[in-house]
Amino acid sequence: MALRSQIIGTGSYLPSRVVMNKDLEEVLDTSDEWIQQRTGILKRYWAAQDESTSDLALKASEKALESAGVDKKEIDLLLLATVTPDHEFPGSACFLQAKMDIPGIPAIDVRQQCGGFIYALSMADQYIRTGTYKNVLVVCSELHSRCLDLTPRGRNLSVIFGDGAGAIVLRAADITDPENQPHVISTKIHSDGSQAKELWCPGPGTALKRKERVTMEMLEEGVQYPQMNGRAVFSRAVRTMSESLLESLTSNGKELKDLNLAFFHQANKRISEAIGKTMSLSDDLIHSTVEDIGNTTSATIPIGLDDAVRKGKLKKGMLISNVAFGSGFTWGHALIRW
Ligand code: UT7
Repeated sequence: MALRSQIIGTGSYLPSRVVMNKDLEEVLDTSDEWIQQRTGILKRYWAAQDESTSDLALKASEKALESAGVDKKEIDLLLLATVTPDHEFPGSACFLQAKMDIPGIPAIDVRQQCGGFIYALSMADQYIRTGTYKNVLVVCSELHSRCLDLTPRGRNLSVIFGDGAGAIVLRAADITDPENQPHVISTKIHSDGSQAKELWCPGPGTALKRKERVTMEMLEEGVQYPQMNGRAVFSRAVRTMSESLLESLTSNGKELKDLNLAFFHQANKRISEAIGKTMSLSDDLIHSTVEDIGNTTSATIPIGLDDAVRKGKLKKGMLISNVAFGSGFTWGHALIRW
């Protein structure tokens, strides 16, 4: 018998405003054809002006709690992953905690970009395995549309991102039959900070070594917008997520043939297609959402899990591997018996 984490509920929220590729053509000097060919993305969702990252997180969390049948007062740890926080400090988890009215429990921000979900899940799993916490809410929320350079200068990045939130509820369970009882089998997280500037947002920040944290000059330079070496990130994403998928299986004595469904972080449909080709995975083994929601950074995998549950594609007993890669570079896996 071993104490393990069970995912007992999922939820997601996408804002109501749909932004088609055509809507970006003029402002970004791009085309629907370029975006579809290079990324596979057809549309994404953008938040309303009166919505914040923690507002999106709240809606996804409420749905996850409802699907889990858990009262918010039963949650004893709150982890929120985001790269687009409500404010510079305190963390957005604190703002979400206030909105949920669950004071006293720890509310922690996870700042691991596209790896945010795997990192947060891994942290939740360690706390559950040690018996420290029993019911954990992991929520990933991104509001990119207000943080992007929406001019032709930023078009390589601005076309791929979308807003949205995804959440899961984990509960501690005694596992006596690991092949059949749902639980998180393993998580593994990695980073390589030597590549931090391949995908990053330079400002505002102390390392810019200006007289003040924010100056008009900095804003004109555009240091407040994310920057990416797209091709370098693309090729490393394919290689690293392929390796992580294999790591998730081989470190647990499993093979590709045992896998029922894979959830990759999705920045670009061509990345998961390239992984599928490299590893000879059939199309139906990869759950894809990027066409309809774009790249939602940390929220990609939990939104994908909720989508697959609601479509009846993700069923009890399945072996699923979740793999993410992104800025940092950070990456990792979570192998789960659903
Ligand atoms: O989520 C975290 C991880 N992120 C990723 O994994 C993203 C990985 N990278 C990518 O998905 C791709 O690199 C992008 C979709 C971001 C860019 O595609 P690309 O094929 O690598 O384009 P590029 O940046 O190398 O640019 C190729 C050409 C350039 O024109 P020239 O110099 O060849 O004339 C760009 O100016 O495409 C041009 N371009 C665009 N044209 C129209 C770049 N962005 C656009 C655009 N619309 N949006």
